[in-house]
Amino acid sequence: MEMNKRSVCDEWRVRDFSAGNFGSQSARMSLERRLIDITVVCDDFNRRSVSYQLSKEESLHRWLKYKEGFSADLVNRLLGEFGIRPGDTVLDPFVGSGTTSLVCKLQNIHSIGLDILPMSGLAIGVKAAVFDYDLAELRRLISDVENLSMPEDYDFRTPCIPITEGAYPERTEREIAFYTVWNQSSGYSRLAKNLVALCILNSLEEVSYTSKDGQFLRWDYRSRKMRELDERRRVSGRTRPVVRLNKGDLPIFGRVLVEALNGILGDIISIRKDFFKTDAGLTFIRGSALYELPKLGANILSGVITSPPYCNRYDYTRTYALELTWLGVGEEGIKDLRQELLSSTVESRPKLDRIRESYIALGREKDFDGILNIVKRNETLAEVNRSLLERNLSGDLNNRGILRMVEGYFMELTFIYAELFRLCRPGAKVAFVNDNVRYGGEVISVDFISTQLAEQVGFKPVKIYSLRQRKGNSSQQMAKFGRVPLRKSITVWEKP
Ligand SMILES: C[S@@+](CC[C@H](N)C(=O)[O-])C[C@H]1O[C@@H](n2cnc3c(N)ncnc32)[C@H](O)[C@@H]1O
Repeated sequence: MEMNKRSVCDEWRVRDFSAGNFGSQSARMSLERRLIDITVVCDDFNRRSVSYQLSKEESLHRWLKYKEGFSADLVNRLLGEFGIRPGDTVLDPFVGSGTTSLVCKLQNIHSIGLDILPMSGLAIGVKAAVFDYDLAELRRLISDVENLSMPEDYDFRTPCIPITEGAYPERTEREIAFYTVWNQSSGYSRLAKNLVALCILNSLEEVSYTSKDGQFLRWDYRSRKMRELDERRRVSGRTRPVVRLNKGDLPIFGRVLVEALNGILGDIISIRKDFFKTDAGLTFIRGSALYELPKLGANILSGVITSPPYCNRYDYTRTYALELTWLGVGEEGIKDLRQELLSSTVESRPKLDRIRESYIALGREKDFDGILNIVKRNETLAEVNRSLLERNLSGDLNNRGILRMVEGYFMELTFIYAELFRLCRPGAKVAFVNDNVRYGGEVISVDFISTQLAEQVGFKPVKIYSLRQRKGNSSQQMAKFGRVPLRKSITVWEKP
């Protein structure tokens, strides 16, 4: 049996980190040989549980369509495995739509969640109030919304910034403003208004010419943006792309809103049948984990269940530009948010000076120096950074921002790991869901490198669950360097 397990895991071991033997691989190889021993390829976790797919079907968790979220099932399993009990406190420093916090709340476990995105706070607040809504009020409200009709000459529009301009048909742009203003000025309770606000936010993509598609916000070919692009292509003699997004008939905003409200009302009723209201505290902090975690007191956590932004160039501020703009974040605000993201896009600028300042402000400069030294001492990271630098010189990287992103990503995560170690009680367990990546033919095992950094800050590695389904590489890389399947993992560490 043991033999079997080992041979399966062995297949998950990376044997070629640097395509064509381009750069040194020895540090990555030796880390791989060591940590493959605690790697478990298992069926308990799968692509559906580490992604939003399961949440789509789950009441409460589906109130905000958040494709980057993981499932309640994953959180439930990890809470069970970690032996977390009612009254304990669990943290998610990258809480997104709030899956960890909400699952904890339903199980009477206290939680702390952090995120830089304002919609995170709205969604979590609305979901956490599931037992507090007055159902009669909600029914009245839905009936009012059903009977609303925008005057033909209504001419307010929902705000836009250059990257969201033309995202809606002209009438929809006015309707969104109309329902938003109605909600703000209605006599309903604050709780009910927040719920409507979340439903409006959650309807924006559906009524727009855009579609959140993997890494990008794609635009329907009928949108002004696409038509203008087509015209520029035509003038300069370039061909039109063969595959074009066509969302079909866009639904009417008011109907989508009513449907969303009815869906939530149904969910509230069914959740109240299946769960009890608990007294567990749920704290949401809007801000960067890099600057907020250092402010929290030590030894408060029994567990951490989280998934940081992956090191994959994904830009939340572009994918969620419609939602952020509707929430009132302007162009500059979105640019600032982009720089608050953990370094995971090619536009990320170094944050080290600001991190240093924040530690100095807390009188913790020595801690800062200690954590920075850990990053500097890590040979695997040095090997990765060196190889990428050489790849860039040889023209194998398609964007030099990748260098800064990868270096910044692990540097910043080390600060997070060190803070988590300080915040955890002895015996507390930490789970990170993450994907490995590959750039310019260089494989970067985010799961193993993170585990090594976690060991350096004091954690004991417990297990690395790796999903049976692995990830492919970009078509560019496969054509140039061949394919290396990439692990998707859940790393589990313990504070001794
Ligand atoms: C993979 S998502 C987490 C999804 C979450 N597990 C869920 O179920 O909804 C990563 C989150 O990290 C947030 N994030 C990025 N940089 C951050 C930072 N510096 N501090 C706190 N949150 C950050 C993003 O806004 C995003 O919501």
